Amino acid sequence: MFDWKKALILCLVGVPLLVVGCAKKEEAPAPAPVVEQPAAAPPMMAIAVLQPRGELTLNGTVSFTQVGDTVTIAAHVEGVAPGKHGFHLHELGDCSAEDFTSTGGHFNPTDAPHGGPADRVRHAGDFGNIEVGEDGTGHVELTSDMITVADGPNTVVGRAIILHEGEDDLESQPTGAAGGRIACGVVEPSG
Ligand code: CU
Ligand code: ZN
Repeated sequence: MFDWKKALILCLVGVPLLVVGCAKKEEAPAPAPVVEQPAAAPPMMAIAVLQPRGELTLNGTVSFTQVGDTVTIAAHVEGVAPGKHGFHLHELGDCSAEDFTSTGGHFNPTDAPHGGPADRVRHAGDFGNIEVGEDGTGHVELTSDMITVADGPNTVVGRAIILHEGEDDLESQPTGAAGGRIACGVVEPSG
């Protein structure tokens, strides 16, 4: 007697059988499983457009791009005196005072001393210097994991970028002895 039970079991385990009723001799290969990939979060961006103090005519922008936990800071300036100029994220996004002192001090959520961007212990707002060439333009890019573009206590949004008249020596307390504030820009969300 033909053993239907056995034939069925053999069909189920995929052994080809020349038996009526075993519809397919070969199973089509199973389609590759569709794995739902979470869409990569788009980078979050913010920008500060610098406004010059008084009679100065400089231009500049500082952009912030957050990918994961890292923020890339890219600063461009034009029409600035050649040499090194300190620039920082200051606590308050208020450029209303003529000398920009309305922005308060360097953003410092960890109550740390002033330092340079390579120091682990420093103000979160310490970005070091922009080096401006003889043509009056300067550009610098750095990364930080002490600030965010995303909402939160360390966000850059709603604070201010200050460009200074002089060089930040990266050690004098509490400001790096970078001199007066020659440009100010409130950081706003972009893109
Ligand atoms: Cu500053
Ligand atoms: Zn500082």
